[in-house]
Amino acid sequence: MVQDLKLYEEGITKFYASSDNLKTKDSVFYNPMMRISRDLTLLVLAFLRKMRGEKKISFLDLMAASGVRSLRVLNELKDDRIKVHINDYSKLCYNIILKNIKLLGSHDDEERVKVYNEEALKFLSNSQYYDFIQIDPFEDINKFLYPAISKVKNGGILALTTTDTASLSGTYPRACVRRYDAVPQNFDFKHEFGLRILIRAIQIEGSKQDRLLKPIITYYYKHHFGAFFQVIKGRERAYGPFKNHEFLLYCTNCLNRKTTRSLFNREICDYCGGRMKFAGKFYTGKLFDEEFLKFTENILPKRNYPLSKETEKVLQMIREEAGINSPYTFNLHLLSQKFKLKLVKMEKLIKLLKSRGFNASRTHFNPLSIRTDAGVKDIIDAMKHSI
Ligand SMILES: C[S@@+](CC[C@H](N)C(=O)[O-])C[C@H]1O[C@@H](n2cnc3c(N)ncnc32)[C@H](O)[C@@H]1O
Ligand SMILES: [Zn+2]
Repeated sequence: MVQDLKLYEEGITKFYASSDNLKTKDSVFYNPMMRISRDLTLLVLAFLRKMRGEKKISFLDLMAASGVRSLRVLNELKDDRIKVHINDYSKLCYNIILKNIKLLGSHDDEERVKVYNEEALKFLSNSQYYDFIQIDPFEDINKFLYPAISKVKNGGILALTTTDTASLSGTYPRACVRRYDAVPQNFDFKHEFGLRILIRAIQIEGSKQDRLLKPIITYYYKHHFGAFFQVIKGRERAYGPFKNHEFLLYCTNCLNRKTTRSLFNREICDYCGGRMKFAGKFYTGKLFDEEFLKFTENILPKRNYPLSKETEKVLQMIREEAGINSPYTFNLHLLSQKFKLKLVKMEKLIKLLKSRGFNASRTHFNPLSIRTDAGVKDIIDAMKHSI
């Protein structure tokens, strides 16, 4: 079938994909909205490069479509020590990836880049071990997790994206229970909660193989979740995250919330005496690695590969919220509606909370929410006083 192709550009890399680029069947898919995920692949690879010293690094792009992610790795990281393997089970994608590599010119090098045309599970069952595996399917990722984790070298990276936000964030709670063994929260921080449910599910897949999956950077952006984990071998390490797999208790009456490891006898709200709802389990640990965030701060001004303005903006907000020890955020619109308070300027409120000894910041999850270690009563009191 002759395809209607179009030439695109992302970063400083040109490539072909279908002109009908968001069609998922019989086409070469390309979603410009997910550029953040590809920008972060470059950054995390550069971070791994730093951790691995002079050693060679193998990168597998398991579901590549046009191959844009790998093309950007080749063209923008410009590091001969990174070997790139690109795979897609669609013959059409396979042919376009070959065409796109030719277009890059100097990277048409058998030693540095290899292209495969196989079903992902079959590919993994016979494959070598990699320093970095990226999975990016259309449908849910569950069936790829165990085999992909098993093929990441110790200390390497497993990266993934998923658009399964409807089940993870509470639109289809039964699908969430089936797929991720957790009750979602269709409330004021449903996206962060969905991401944390996903992280727990992935860590459990890792622990079955005595591997810890430590978040390097995880995020929600425009209808998809992205997650980059370092995979670390060891029974004790793999057990570590379980202390951070907890339930959420939340009160729809006064918006109080807290985490608990056991649901026994904990359902009465200690603020208003109402009955609390529960959700989870979810991962309550860190979503971001401080070393990685520091690395991005240092490397960004000197880099020769361009990130989109949006990626930089999200990274900036993540740096602000990363240091705050709280697994949820508060939506200020909801608080002001619920308690008939005037909506206050977010910066003013954050400043006041900080002056009262709390940590507080914006959050990349929602422009209307703040992350803080203050409780709901402290926030309401600060809202009354920051008008
Ligand atoms: C969301 S697209 C990938 C987008 C690409 N990673 C990017 O950043 O632009 C998903 C791709 O995975 C491929 N795919 C889906 N299931 C697969 C499987 N089981 N094995 C191999 N490839 C698969 C599809 O052909 C499609 O090209
Ligand atoms: Zn309450």
